[in-house]
Amino acid sequence: MPKVLFERTQFEVDWPEGGALVDLCDRDVRAGVPFSCRHANCGTCRIEVREGLELCEPPGEDERALLAQLGARDERVRLGCQLRVRGVDGIVRLWVTL
Ligand code: FES
Repeated sequence: MPKVLFERTQFEVDWPEGGALVDLCDRDVRAGVPFSCRHANCGTCRIEVREGLELCEPPGEDERALLAQLGARDERVRLGCQLRVRGVDGIVRLWVTL
């Protein structure tokens, strides 16, 4: 099962099913990821995946387009509202960039 660590707030949680990160963040405010549009339009939710990128689904077209527009060239920079984590063993360490 994936474990997610939000480094800024030191909130760590087991996430047996994986899925959309925004759902996990909505369940517990300690995640500390800010959201606004939730549709890959604003960039408010930018995060850096410091570990476990291989546990994350690759970015979709909308996410890639906005990240390119924002000048984010590092593949570890993702949108929290679009990130999906696979339900497999491992840890995903995240840093909120804003
Ligand atoms: S909340 Fe706007 S891009 Fe994620």
